[in-house]
Amino acid sequence: MSAVFEVLNLKKAFGGLVVTNDVSLSMQPGDRVALIGPNGAGKTTFVNLVTGALRPSSGEVQLGNETITKTSPAGRVQRGLVRSFQVTRLFQDMTPAEHVGLAVLQRTGKSGRLAGNFLTRADVMQEVIELLEKLGLASLAHRKVREIAYGQQRLLELAIALALKPRVLLLDEPAAGVPQSDTGRIEEALADLPPDLAVLMIEHDMDLVFRFARRVVVLAAGTVIFDGLPSDVTKDARVREAYLGSYANASHHA
Ligand SMILES: Nc1ncnc2c1ncn2[C@@H]1O[C@H](COP(=O)(O)OP(=O)(O)OP(=O)(O)O)[C@@H](O)[C@H]1O
Ligand SMILES: [Mg+2]
Repeated sequence: MSAVFEVLNLKKAFGGLVVTNDVSLSMQPGDRVALIGPNGAGKTTFVNLVTGALRPSSGEVQLGNETITKTSPAGRVQRGLVRSFQVTRLFQDMTPAEHVGLAVLQRTGKSGRLAGNFLTRADVMQEVIELLEKLGLASLAHRKVREIAYGQQRLLELAIALALKPRVLLLDEPAAGVPQSDTGRIEEALADLPPDLAVLMIEHDMDLVFRFARRVVVLAAGTVIFDGLPSDVTKDARVREAYLGSYANASHHA
């Protein structure tokens, strides 16, 4: 099978600090990859670079057969490269239905003048309600985001991402900040993602990593030091070494 997403020799430095050091990574449809690494390893920066939020110093990003290194962030989303954020970026006064509805409109190119009363449009709303139902949020469709729990807000972010019909989905710590009691629902949603979607998830919780991932990529100081099977990652000498410091600092982190 050919790659749906390919990153070639990506580099980024902030001043003198190299945060992405010659990173290459390839993903196939249906991949379930966990991107892990100590705090500050460059995981979020990697996502910022490939989605176009940051400009790389050098290197290439390909989606399907197309090179998108210079494509605008919105253009990348349109082509099916979609991300979620480490901290939610929802609008507190908008409802889940409005958030997902706008994403559907963005995807279908119907935003703009016609968008005003989209909540009354049957075609849009049918898709909105289906997605919210899938994520267990249908009963909250018309509540304001500020009134719903953080775990539900994170599920809403997944709904928004799915409304964009991604080919490649990049999730930056989808369960971060969610109380342990509510992470089960997020994990179920992750398990339910479309089988042909390529998913890369940044995650510190190793239990979640092992349940979700069929492949693990480890970043340390901007460099990929491991790319392989979950069953091999904890045995790897370089990975163990990279994590020694953070084991000492934060026992709940990987
Ligand atoms: N805009 C920026 N300007 C300067 N340095 C930055 C900038 N963004 C990130 N960095 C630095 O780049 C390094 C990588 O940060 P990044 O946020 O990508 O790490 P991370 O692996 O996502 O960490 P965490 O697990 O804590 O989320 C850090 O040293 C960080 O301080
Ligand atoms: Mg991060």
